[in-house]
Amino acid sequence: MSRKILTALVAAATFSSATFAANVSQEQYDAIAERIKPVGDVYLVGSEPVAAAVPTGPRDGATVYGTFCTACHSTGISGAPKTGDAGDWSPRIAQGRDVLNNHAINGFNAMPAKGSCMDCSDDEIIAAIDHMIEGL
Ligand code: HEC
Repeated sequence: MSRKILTALVAAATFSSATFAANVSQEQYDAIAERIKPVGDVYLVGSEPVAAAVPTGPRDGATVYGTFCTACHSTGISGAPKTGDAGDWSPRIAQGRDVLNNHAINGFNAMPAKGSCMDCSDDEIIAAIDHMIEGL
């Protein structure tokens, strides 16, 4: 490519962006600024929104299960009873619900206490068990 053509192209590109800048309205400018602003706002110390600290309430069984239990209980890794599998669960359910709850909350062999969800309440763990054995 000759130097002359290249110069002409650069000039054309410069001109078109200048035209763009001149024609953009404040409204369009704001919309563009909104689209390209960084993700996540920065807050100065003391100006953080207070709402962020409000607890969101207990997680439901499906959420706890999907985050903490599915890794072992969907595949049956290390002998974990599989979710929704009646053959795996019937002898365990026969122990009584208190035993199941107790083993899930306090741990049992390769079953880690609370399935490793250390900030789960007992009720959240019990809801996750309900989710795993639902319909059995
Ligand atoms: C690291 C793998 C792993 C994770 C994560 C895990 N489990 Fe388990 N779980 C096991 C294994 C293995 C067993 C079987 C233990 C045995 O019978 O020796 C088991 C057994 C159980 C039992 C039956 C206990 C009994 O008395 O028969 C319940 C209920 C249970 N898990 C609930 C949960 C819940 C609820 C979660 C999530 C909050 C969870 N588990 C997460 C591995 C896991």
